[in-house]
Amino acid sequence: MDLKQLKAFIAIAELRSFSAAAKVTGISQPSLSRLLKQLETDMNVALVDRYHRPLQLTTAGLFFYDKIDALLTELDAITHMTQRLSAPSKGLNIGFVPSVLYGLLPEVIATFKQQNADTEVNLKDISSYQQIEALKSGEIDVGFGRFAHQDPWIQQILLRHERYLVALPKAHPLADVKEQRLLDLANSRLILYHQTHLPGLINTDSIAADMSTSARDKRTKQTPKPEVASVTDSVTEPLLYLFAQHGITPLRTSKVSDLQVALGLVAAGEGITLVPASLQVMRTKQISYQRLIHENVTSPIYLHTLKDFIHPKVNDLLTAIYEIYEQRGITYRRQQFV
Ligand code: BEZ
Repeated sequence: MDLKQLKAFIAIAELRSFSAAAKVTGISQPSLSRLLKQLETDMNVALVDRYHRPLQLTTAGLFFYDKIDALLTELDAITHMTQRLSAPSKGLNIGFVPSVLYGLLPEVIATFKQQNADTEVNLKDISSYQQIEALKSGEIDVGFGRFAHQDPWIQQILLRHERYLVALPKAHPLADVKEQRLLDLANSRLILYHQTHLPGLINTDSIAADMSTSARDKRTKQTPKPEVASVTDSVTEPLLYLFAQHGITPLRTSKVSDLQVALGLVAAGEGITLVPASLQVMRTKQISYQRLIHENVTSPIYLHTLKDFIHPKVNDLLTAIYEIYEQRGITYRRQQFV
């Protein structure tokens, strides 16, 4: 078994066609076919069912694809890291989720640049989940995100917890209530915008499907009442998880692609949402932002980096962040990557 055979198998498995795989890999169809045959002969296993169009993987082929794909991704990451170790980049490439841009990110970057004038900084707007791949491929050196990642390649520092505020349309009956309870919000349509599911929890597709308006309407012909969530651990959508932790399931939800769209819908009177406090400057003509009475309804901010490759400027970046926290009287616990 060799790398060429494995790469040929991955291309065929992903594209389900010898001709498409030949185009993408630049290897001729007969050569691809020969590489796959050699691999199958070496292993004494049929990986691809050639009689179907498009081609299909056998059960053994599906298992093998899963494992080998992960292995080749890891091999790519090791290659990139080794190259970077031999020639580290002078600049600092920083990934960030959009929500931190409305908070302290601009100030953090300005302070870091003042203190490290010789370092070129490149910023990249990238989701929490994609940051992990971007760190491994070397596209970014560090990432600011809102989720902890359980990945053997990644380490993270929890910078702080930011409180969630409820965003309500100005015309909402609760718009002027100063200290809100999650239970009182459960009858309003909750607009969900996270693209990431909480790590390490069970998939919730069944619960999400169960929460579609039509399914819910069938069961609640009279005045609907918020339900008590039975299995908190089965909820992986971050806002639903916060509600579930308080034993509440919102009656109606809508899912949108990002935070900006969610706030646009709130402004249009389509529902409510929860956002980190730094977002309270957005669309203030149409949206009322109110605090929640629950202290633990917060959104964490993490700084991620690779375990085996810490950019020499990362600890200077942390120094700039902590300096700003000190100036603003923000509670934090000082940490360093080692
Ligand atoms: C913060 O809001 O605490 C923060 C945002 C971006 C980078 C670092 C810190």
